[in-house]
Amino acid sequence: MNLREKLEELKERGLKEINQAQDLKSVNDIRVTLLGKKGPITEVLRGMRDLSAEERPKVGSFANAIKNELAKTIAAKVDELEVERMAKKLEAETIDVTLPGVPVKEGQPHVLMQVIDEIEKLFLGMGFQVVDGPEIEEDHYNFEMLNLPQDHPARDMQDTFYINKRLLMRTQTSPVQARTMEKHDFSKGPLKMISPGKVYRRDTDDATHSHQFHQVEGLVIDKNITMADLKGTLALVAKTIFGENREIRLRPSYFPFTEPSVEVDVSCFKCGGQGCSVCKQSGWIEVLGAGMVHPNVLTMAGIDPKVYGGFAFGLGPDRFAMLKYGVDDIREFYLNDVRFLSQFSKKG
Ligand code: DAH
Repeated sequence: MNLREKLEELKERGLKEINQAQDLKSVNDIRVTLLGKKGPITEVLRGMRDLSAEERPKVGSFANAIKNELAKTIAAKVDELEVERMAKKLEAETIDVTLPGVPVKEGQPHVLMQVIDEIEKLFLGMGFQVVDGPEIEEDHYNFEMLNLPQDHPARDMQDTFYINKRLLMRTQTSPVQARTMEKHDFSKGPLKMISPGKVYRRDTDDATHSHQFHQVEGLVIDKNITMADLKGTLALVAKTIFGENREIRLRPSYFPFTEPSVEVDVSCFKCGGQGCSVCKQSGWIEVLGAGMVHPNVLTMAGIDPKVYGGFAFGLGPDRFAMLKYGVDDIREFYLNDVRFLSQFSKKG
């Protein structure tokens, strides 16, 4: 048998073995035996020294072509087996997506946020801006700019937590009034804002007092604002939160930053005004404080009280929510008991 025939035979045998191989390991073994340094092809090539100078390159290139063909076939087989192996693996690993899932408990906005959202929506619709203010506030804005200088007796009602001599946990959202007035550019139009947020007082917690609660501040400054504007706006708030048939009444009161100041009552939504336990038999429920902005407050913020004036109010969403939903303890809002909170799910 000459070299060509030997090579031809090796090729045939090799191709057959490769095609029959069942796994990667056998293919690899075939590759090593067939094409390795000690393999039969290398062996045959060694025999080339006995060939004539004419024959040698011909047989050489023939041998190389066979080597290449075998290598290619091996590579193709390896690919084929890899694909097969992957397919088998995927098959074995299929996930049964028909298993019932674990139900996800969905949250919802806290009931106080729901009340605040309702109020925000109402005022955004009337062209007010919603402004944020710092909860750690300067004495300057929390008191002084609101006509409550050092040692003013009305400060006593709003004792709070002091960070230092200058900084405190704000006792009211009213400082946002002063901050907004200072910045407002009246050439761009009137100032109309509300500011919801947390406030703090050194109160002993009980069913109606919490050291932390919420307020929504409101402020309108423009030319020719009257108490009728104040009353109309607040009547709308009462109707939005407590129902279309609600009415409000104003009683004289005192706040250092408004003159005149009023306490605002809403007609009892429980009894409609006849008198019941909710309204303490009076037919009215006190819901917020308000008034016409004091000239001193305007002047301190750099606004001329002879040209501009306005009204302000401060309401408590905690109290609104307690009244609206018949919650008898303000502390419920801050305990985060899901059994309590889920009662106010909008989805019912
Ligand atoms: N800041 C007042 C308080 O916490 C509430 C209040 C009353 C705000 C009258 C106002 C207002 O803007 O005009 O008791």
